Amino acid sequence: MPTAKEVRQQFINFFVNKYNHKQIPSASVIPENDPTVLFTTAGMQPLVPYLMGEKHPFGNRLVDSQKCIRTDDIEEVGDASHCTFFEMLGNWSLGDYFKKESINMSYQLLTLSWEEGGFGIDPNRLRVTCFEGDGNIEKDNEASQIWQELGFQEVQNADENERKLIYFYEKKKNWWGPAGQTGPCGPDTEIFYDKSPELSPFEHLSNSSEELKNKYPLKDGSRHCHPNCECGRYVEIWNNVFMQFYKNADGSFEELKQKNVDTGMGFERITAILQGVNNHYQTELFSEVIEKLKEMTGESFENNEENEKSIRIIADHLRAATFILGDKNGVTPSNTDQGYILRRLIRRAIRHGKQIGINQHFTKQIAEYFIAEYQDFFTELSENKERVLNEIAKEEEKFQRTLENGLREMKKIMGEASELSVENLAEKAFLLYESYGFPSEMIVEELQNEGVNFDLDKFNQIFAEKFKAHQDLSRAGAEQKFAGGLADHSEESKKLHTATHLLHKALKTVLGNEVEQKGSNITPERLRFDFNYPQKMTAEQIKEVENLVNQQIERELPISYEVMTVDEAKKQGAIGLFEDKYGDQIKVYRMGDFSLEICGGPHTDNTGNLEHFKILKEEASSAGIRRIKAVIGEQALK
Ligand code: ALA
Repeated sequence: MPTAKEVRQQFINFFVNKYNHKQIPSASVIPENDPTVLFTTAGMQPLVPYLMGEKHPFGNRLVDSQKCIRTDDIEEVGDASHCTFFEMLGNWSLGDYFKKESINMSYQLLTLSWEEGGFGIDPNRLRVTCFEGDGNIEKDNEASQIWQELGFQEVQNADENERKLIYFYEKKKNWWGPAGQTGPCGPDTEIFYDKSPELSPFEHLSNSSEELKNKYPLKDGSRHCHPNCECGRYVEIWNNVFMQFYKNADGSFEELKQKNVDTGMGFERITAILQGVNNHYQTELFSEVIEKLKEMTGESFENNEENEKSIRIIADHLRAATFILGDKNGVTPSNTDQGYILRRLIRRAIRHGKQIGINQHFTKQIAEYFIAEYQDFFTELSENKERVLNEIAKEEEKFQRTLENGLREMKKIMGEASELSVENLAEKAFLLYESYGFPSEMIVEELQNEGVNFDLDKFNQIFAEKFKAHQDLSRAGAEQKFAGGLADHSEESKKLHTATHLLHKALKTVLGNEVEQKGSNITPERLRFDFNYPQKMTAEQIKEVENLVNQQIERELPISYEVMTVDEAKKQGAIGLFEDKYGDQIKVYRMGDFSLEICGGPHTDNTGNLEHFKILKEEASSAGIRRIKAVIGEQALK
């Protein structure tokens, strides 16, 4: 049985050794220069410029394990399959190979024996799905044909003992992307794993509900199970996206300059499958932490469903928190953006800790376990270990104080509860939930303990309505976040990105060479740039930096890039972060004779396009770090 580390390595080695891919390190889980998303949610996200035709310094065949965070369904974590943080294993062709090679590679990796460099999965446990077409975009018969050459059959032509089956689905299922509102996307082919090979391929796993889809009726008219069936028999293990389109802001599609392949395989899930366990919590990625958590509850741990769920939530959330805090662009808990998600994750974990009877502080110890488990591969975790442990402990203490206030508030409510209407009670309960995160069950339990008489159904109904309204509101917030972004690589974003380079160099010139970029974020309206500097900049310094940037704009400097070795870049005096750059070849952007900086791009092609530059604000961001907000073009002339 392979260990998780061996599974990750086997995936990477397969593409490196057999198909000449280059391994790239995971990009940060907190995206830079991309206003449209809070976290990296897929392996392709940091590669968008290259999918659109920029040259990647490592060539056009890449493989990696990318750190990802998906927070849409935080509330659902705790079941066997949802993860907030996960690793996405992926291989890419940037305008190189396409469908045929990609499908063949996937099939080979999955089915070759472990000794031959594969995962050794029985081909009869695989089902695949293809895109059935939509509007002007054709049904993907080509992908189906390639699967047929590998011995698969389209389900409608197959006899009932056939297992290597091909199914077609609509756009909702077999189309991927873009990651934000706009960007690269395309039809995909997905590979599923059969959890119950002892059943006929069409039988539902169990408890099949009346609502189950009847999309693939058997010849006798009875219901079919199929890869996307809700009964859960089939698990998606790999997605191959044939990325050849770009979705514009107006919803239209255009062909990309090049045809790409983008694949994604959930590392935790495939590890569980290859280890023959039911879910990722039973792999060594989690098992030690789970044991530790059970120990921490002392005698009181009861192995029931609710408690198991709490344990999973704690483990999942604290792993995600460890990776967010330990990232090179790590954020700390706060009330906005990524910091807010981080706060929610830590606090939700602590609440569940209390629910299962952990009475001491525990988050730091759990984070330490995760760091130990992962630091070989994600070295940033050991580099930032101190920050992770300090911040997580600090947040736990803070939350402890909040909880105490919440308990006082709850006592107050209990004191007057018998005089309150059920509407009033539910309203107050919801406030407790909103401000202190007390779940409604906890409040109900307390009310019942106090012997308060109230209509429980009505209470639950009102609470649920308020909860839904609250959820819709936070979803709308998240969607605005997506909608707020200009097309990721719109001309405007490129220009702001270019302004960032000019600003970086100007700051070094005016304040001293020790100044370095510590963070960058671009929205359609402005750029935000963080850098190390021990004090507030004076008005003169700000003016000087602004002038220097504006001079470069007036000089209309041409912008180009070169691919070179790290040594060569250093020799030429390039600025930017060297330490996390991939191996040898890096991309360096040159803006006339003014700036030379390591960067993936993209940029506008001439500094003149920026028209004008203006600093709106210079302020403290955190200890020793200053933050500048600036605008260009029309905005800067106002
Ligand atoms: N980008 C694809 C996914 O996330 C591979 O599933």
